[in-house]
Amino acid sequence: MKLAVVGGGSTYTPELIDGFARLRDTLPITELVLVDPAAERLDLVGGLARRIFAKQDHDGKIVTTGDLDAGVEGADAVLLQLRVGGQAAREQDETWPLECGCIGQETTGAGGLAKALRTVPVVLDIAERVRRTNPDAWIIDFTNPVGIVTRALLRAGHKAVGLCNVAIGFQRKFAKLLDVAPSEVHLDHVGLNHLTWERAVRIGGPEGEDVLPRLLAEHGDAIAGDLRLPRPVLDRLGVVPSYYLRYFYAHDEVVRELGTKPSRAAEVAAMERELLEMYGDPALDEKPELLAKRGGAFYSEAAVDLAASLLGGGGSPYQVVNTYNNGTLPFLPDDAVIETQAAVGAHGATPLPVAPVDPLYAGLIANVTAYEDLALEAALHGGRDRVFKALLAHPLVGQYAYADGLTDRLIAHNREHLAWV
Ligand code: G6P
Ligand code: MN
Repeated sequence: MKLAVVGGGSTYTPELIDGFARLRDTLPITELVLVDPAAERLDLVGGLARRIFAKQDHDGKIVTTGDLDAGVEGADAVLLQLRVGGQAAREQDETWPLECGCIGQETTGAGGLAKALRTVPVVLDIAERVRRTNPDAWIIDFTNPVGIVTRALLRAGHKAVGLCNVAIGFQRKFAKLLDVAPSEVHLDHVGLNHLTWERAVRIGGPEGEDVLPRLLAEHGDAIAGDLRLPRPVLDRLGVVPSYYLRYFYAHDEVVRELGTKPSRAAEVAAMERELLEMYGDPALDEKPELLAKRGGAFYSEAAVDLAASLLGGGGSPYQVVNTYNNGTLPFLPDDAVIETQAAVGAHGATPLPVAPVDPLYAGLIANVTAYEDLALEAALHGGRDRVFKALLAHPLVGQYAYADGLTDRLIAHNREHLAWV
């Protein structure tokens, strides 16, 4: 089995390699190609990747290349994990919205729109090239904003599934708290990428007993603490929101907080410098502890599980993925992309039925879906007007004066990445 990772020079990659090595029975890789235009980084990451495989007696071949077409040739699946403009562009996304009193975040709000505009054309171009060389390959998209990028890929007819580690993170955390195997924990996970709620935590499968009330009663403080939301909010809702909901439920508080500390991009950039130095050490042959400080915990396990199922192997039968709604949430268009439990196999991902959604969540889901639709229009066709409308539609923006100020800044800070400017 051959896999290609576009953005393979990412400092995240050793996390992925470690997963491929540990989980080789689930996903037997014979060749792994790391594709990245940044030759120096790729060299460092590729070197460590080979040492991790060697240490764990994995005889899969690891190839590094800057040539996308050659790299994806013959691949059964292609993972996309790239960041257009790198941490420098992310730093902008996290900073200029604050000038307008709005949150600065790389996937939510105005920063997320900027990222979508930079990313969608690049990802579509890559996917087109994958399809030309390799029409049967699956595309697994971890590139943010995953909801919008996956919608762009599916709309262009690609064989694509979107992936995020938020759900698997909850699954692993709850399994630990409950002292059961992660595979026993089935989440009633509803919403859109980075806009989800866990409404039930079932043991044994989709029909299992819901232990969420017990989890909240016994571990509510720890769960709320991780999310940085007050415990009574969780108790009143009776669900566990993802930590991205803090940008909505505590928007003003987060804006104040962001104004007083260095950006996440700056933190990550410093960590990346340190990581790359470590990767250059020929004695290092495992993923370093420092990687755990990145947000991608369990990404490798989710990716292995998904690739294994799509390629007809032994992945979990149900996984949380991003795919077309197709009537699953009746209040959304069929071609909206939702993040949901799905039956995953060689055919792709088919959402499991979802119990009716409380208006408390359905309203926000529908609103952000409309924003995502407008965001994709702006990413595909450009133009100040489309950017403005997407921002006006976003529940965290909503007022024309904010939308205008944000539009000007978005364009000014992203000129080099926007073909239409
Ligand atoms: C989580 C999200 C990813 C996001 C990451 C950021 O893993 O699911 O979509 O890219 O956090 O982590 P970072 O360490 O870059 O802040
Ligand atoms: Mn994510």
